Formats: sequence, structure tokens, C-alpha cells
Amino acid sequence: MRNPRTRATVSRCLALLAFAGITSTAIADSSGKWQNGQEIYQKVCGYCHEANVGPVLKGRSLPVEYVSYIVRHGNRAMPSFRPSEIDDEMLAQVARLISGKPVQ
Ligand code: HEC
Repeated sequence: MRNPRTRATVSRCLALLAFAGITSTAIADSSGKWQNGQEIYQKVCGYCHEANVGPVLKGRSLPVEYVSYIVRHGNRAMPSFRPSEIDDEMLAQVARLISGKPVQ
């Protein structure tokens, strides 16, 4: 545990476990439907990306296609999300929000 890399990995894994708990509850409560990309960003992405678990996303002009790809496929510690969790329309909204483009 002295190695900072190991510690970072462990805390990411713990965050992932905690996250699995919160999403299943959030999804059950909203019957799989989100109101908009803002809600997804705050309740799902922000859980890691506004808490230093994942890298800062906003203000970097990340391309919409890139964000959508990562959300569907995941990348190392970044979990992937299925259409049953975040549908295509909501994914497009959250990706536009992150990229800094107008949402509608
Ligand atoms: C459980 C925590 C967690 C959640 C929830 C999460 N992410 Fe991530 N995300 C990460 C981590 C950790 C990384 C860094 C992955 C790596 O490089 O090892 C990451 C990386 C990314 C990247 C790549 C960033 C870069 O610098 O290239 C994007 C884009 C991204 N996430 C988008 C999202 C979006 C959009 C959501 C919400 C739908 C989301 N993430 C939810 C943990 C999370």
C-alpha cells in the first residue's frame, strides 16, 4: 500500500463498488428514465468526475463522439453503460453538455 499507484487503483475500485450500489438504486427509482443530460451528469458522471476519481471532463472541449464512445465501451477504470442504463438520446445530451456544445 506504499505505492501511490496501488492506492489510486484501490480507491478507484472502491468507488466503482460504491457506484454500482448507487446506480442500481437510482435506476430503479427512475424506472430507467433520466430527465436530461444534466441530471445524468450530476448523478452519474459527477459521482466520479467531480470527485477526483475520474479526470475532469468539462471545459476541455472533448469531442461528442469520443465521450459517447467511452461511455458505451468504458476504458480501464471507467465503467461502460448500456442503452438500458443511459439511452442514446440521453447519451447524446450528456456528451454535448460535456463537449460544451448547446444541448438541444
Ligand atoms: C465509477 C466512476 C466513474 C463514473 C460513474 C464515470 N466515469 Fe468516466 N472515467 C472514470 C475514470 C476512473 C476514468 C479514467 C479512466 C482511465 O484512464 O483509466 C474515466 C474516463 C472518462 C473519459 C475519458 C477522459 C479523458 O481524459 O480522456 C470520459 C470521456 C468519461 N470518463 C466520461 C464519463 C461520462 C460521460 C460519465 C457519465 C455517463 C462517466 N464518465 C462516468 C470513472 C468514472
